[in-house]
Amino acid sequence: MQKIKLIKPYISYDEVSNELIDIFESGQFTKGKNVDLFIKELKEYTNAQHAFLTTSATTALTMCLKTLGIKAGDKVAVSDFSFPATANVVEDLGAIPVFIDVELETYNMSANELRKKIDSSFKAVIFVDALGNPSGINEIKQICQELNVPLIEDAACAIGSSVNGEKVGTIADLTCFSFHPRKLLTAGEGGAILTDNAKYAAWLQVKLNHGASGFKGKGLDFIDFGYNYRMSEIQALMGWKQVKKLDEIVSRRNLIADEYAQHIEPKGFNRQVVLSEVHHNIQSLIFTVPNGVSRDGLIDYLADQQIESTIGTYCLSASTYYQSRYNDIQNNSLWLENNTITLPCYDDVDVTRVTNSIIQFLN
Ligand SMILES: Cc1ncc(COP(=O)(O)O)c(C=O)c1O
Repeated sequence: MQKIKLIKPYISYDEVSNELIDIFESGQFTKGKNVDLFIKELKEYTNAQHAFLTTSATTALTMCLKTLGIKAGDKVAVSDFSFPATANVVEDLGAIPVFIDVELETYNMSANELRKKIDSSFKAVIFVDALGNPSGINEIKQICQELNVPLIEDAACAIGSSVNGEKVGTIADLTCFSFHPRKLLTAGEGGAILTDNAKYAAWLQVKLNHGASGFKGKGLDFIDFGYNYRMSEIQALMGWKQVKKLDEIVSRRNLIADEYAQHIEPKGFNRQVVLSEVHHNIQSLIFTVPNGVSRDGLIDYLADQQIESTIGTYCLSASTYYQSRYNDIQNNSLWLENNTITLPCYDDVDVTRVTNSIIQFLN
C-alpha cells in the first residue's frame, strides 16, 4: 500500500535547475538577483510597500519585536493556539507573553478575550492566522488602534490568504511569513517581514545588514549594531519561482478541502470556520473530531493505513514550559489542541482513501 504523505511541496527541481547553474557558475550565493526578485514578487503579490527576507518566521518575528523596541518586562499579547515560536520570540527578549484564548470556530484570537486582558501598557499584539486563516484580524486591529498598540501578524502559515480581497501582508503594522517545507510556498527554510511603515522599513534595512548603511572610505559604514538573518540566493530562487503559482494552488486546495468536507462533515467532523470576507489558503486542512471520538486513536489508525496525519497545532499556555512559567492555560486553545486533526491536502491526494479510512475507524 502506497503511503499518503501529509505534505507535498509545490516546487520541482526542473523549475529551478537553469538558474541554479547560474548561481553556482557566478559564485553569487548571497545578496544577488534572486533575493531581489523574491522581494519584488512578494511586494507585488501582497501590495506591501516593503519586504525583507529572513532565515525563518522565527527570526522575522524576533526582528519585528526588536523593530518595536520591545524589551525585558514588556507585555505582548499572543494568540494561544499556535506553534511555540510565536511566544518564544517574546520570551527570548525577556518580555512577557500574555496568552489570549481563541475562538473555537476560527481558532483565532478572541476579541472579547483580548479586551479582558489588554490595556495601553501593552507593547504589541501578535495575532496568529491559525493554519493560514486570518479570520477576525480586523476586529483585533480595531482594538489595537483604539489603544495605540502595534499589531504584528504572525502569518507564518498565511501566504496567499486574503481579507476583503486584500492579500495578507498589509493588514497589520508588521507581517511575517514562513517558508518552511510545511508551508504553501517553501524555500527549504526562510521567512519574510512585510510592512507599509517607512520608519520600520528603514530600521530593518540597516539592522538586517549588520548595521551597515552606505560606505565609509572603501568599506561599509556601520551606523548601528546589527544582525545577519539573510536568506541565500538558492532559497530565494525557490521562493520567487512559486509566487506566481500561489493563487492557483490556493484555489485547488480549497476544492480538495470541499471534497473532504462532503465526505466527513456528515459524520460530525467540523472544518475550521472562515469568515465570509476571508479567502483561506488552506495551509493545513484541519477538522475537529466528533464528540466521543479519540483524535489520537484516529491518527494511529490512519498511520496503520499508511496515511499521515497530525494534530492541529498547540495550546501554547499548556506547553510544559509556559504552564510552569505562567500557569495561565486557555481553555478553548487546549480543547483545540486535543480535538483537531490535520489531513493530507494537495493535488493528487487520494481523498476517497483517506475519508474511507476515517469512516472505517468511526465504525
Ligand atoms: C504560527 C507560526 N509561527 C511561527 C512559526 C515558525 O516558523 P519558522 O519555522 O519559519 O521559524 C510557525 C511554524 O510552523 C508557525 O506555525
